Amino acid sequence: MEKDKTITAQERRDFLKGAAAFGMGVAVAPLLTAQAQAATAATPPPVADKPKLTMAEVLRVAREKLYPRCRVCPECNGVACAGEVPGFGGIGSGQSFKNNYDSLNRIQLHMRTVHDMKKPDMSVEIFGETLAMPILSAATGGVTYNMGGKMAEEDFINAILGGCRDAKTLGMAADGIGDPVETFKRRMDVLKASYGGKGMVMIKPRTQEEIIKRVRLMEEAGAVAFGIDIDSAGRAARALPGQTVEPKTLDQLKELVNCTKMPFILKGIMTAEEAELAVQAGAKGVVVSNHGGRVLDYTPGVADVLPAIAAKVKGKIVIFADGAVRRGYDVLKLLALGADACLVGRPLIRAAHGGGREGVAMMMNAMRQELMDSMVLTGVASLRQVPRSIIVGA
Ligand SMILES: Cc1cc2nc3c(=O)[nH]c(=O)nc-3n(C[C@H](O)[C@H](O)[C@H](O)COP(=O)(O)O)c2cc1C
Repeated sequence: MEKDKTITAQERRDFLKGAAAFGMGVAVAPLLTAQAQAATAATPPPVADKPKLTMAEVLRVAREKLYPRCRVCPECNGVACAGEVPGFGGIGSGQSFKNNYDSLNRIQLHMRTVHDMKKPDMSVEIFGETLAMPILSAATGGVTYNMGGKMAEEDFINAILGGCRDAKTLGMAADGIGDPVETFKRRMDVLKASYGGKGMVMIKPRTQEEIIKRVRLMEEAGAVAFGIDIDSAGRAARALPGQTVEPKTLDQLKELVNCTKMPFILKGIMTAEEAELAVQAGAKGVVVSNHGGRVLDYTPGVADVLPAIAAKVKGKIVIFADGAVRRGYDVLKLLALGADACLVGRPLIRAAHGGGREGVAMMMNAMRQELMDSMVLTGVASLRQVPRSIIVGA
């Protein structure tokens, strides 16, 4: 602050204290010197330091914004929200969501600490991008019909893509089944303008023509990779006009692979046979996923089907897995079962609502830290080589 033009903030505080002491109020304001008046206008009142965001605060705000769509339960296991689709739950009985949680929760880890490994290598490379962790955001859409509409679409996507970027990983943009192509384009504009395309995109299994239209927009945005959540085809029989989704044949998958240079990911794979078809189609990645238990009731948990899938396609294609990944430990378990990286859904929706971009980065970093600690305590030096033998009974 230039001393000769105005008074300092301290002087102003002293002045105001003095004024209060003398009972000066609005009536005497015209008597203030020109210098003091200028200072009053130019100097903002002292601002208290912004309190440091904590996870407890993020979850408190998330509950305030998301209730009753999400109750922010201490354990996000699909029990309280069973059947709530749209919303946060699993479909029908909620059993597929619960199976994701239970299949991971059942797994126990051997603790091994007689070694000299202190700092495991946490980085991974996915589609040419070096990431600080094998943890990415899942695609989650429907800020109004699923999440209750307390966050604007653009704020949500910025929180997810920005928070993931701050944590040095990748976020994923979703595609609402009822979204016209213009809405999708706006999302791609954000991906390009604010993140230089550093994100992945998951679109609905629309007609080939509609998908390819969106592929051109993703290319224009410079997206890292794209995929279709083929398991959304369950709505094929009841799709509204203009919202056609469909299962895809092998030839149709090949057409999608060949229509672009972007790596193609098939999301919603739950059997080894279909993972092999994805490889045959030329896909670069699969997501072993039952859509968070939201599309077909009574599927097994992801951790239960992953080993058979990895046995067939590990090394031929990037294996992502999602479903009830809540902590770094869950990531370690899925990596030991054959995944290359994990996606996180519901926890990041909560983080975005409770703490925006900062909340998402905080949650990602917390999971990374847990993953790192659990690697030290199981004697795993590198994410490229997570041995099955860390799992009890494997
Ligand atoms: C509210 C909500 C919306 C979702 N929207 C989409 C979507 O638009 N596209 C998609 O591929 N998956 C979607 N998913 C599924 C996630 O991508 C992911 O498979 C699942 O959430 C992982 O399970 P988790 O939430 O238990 O981590 C959604 C999940 C939730 C909970």
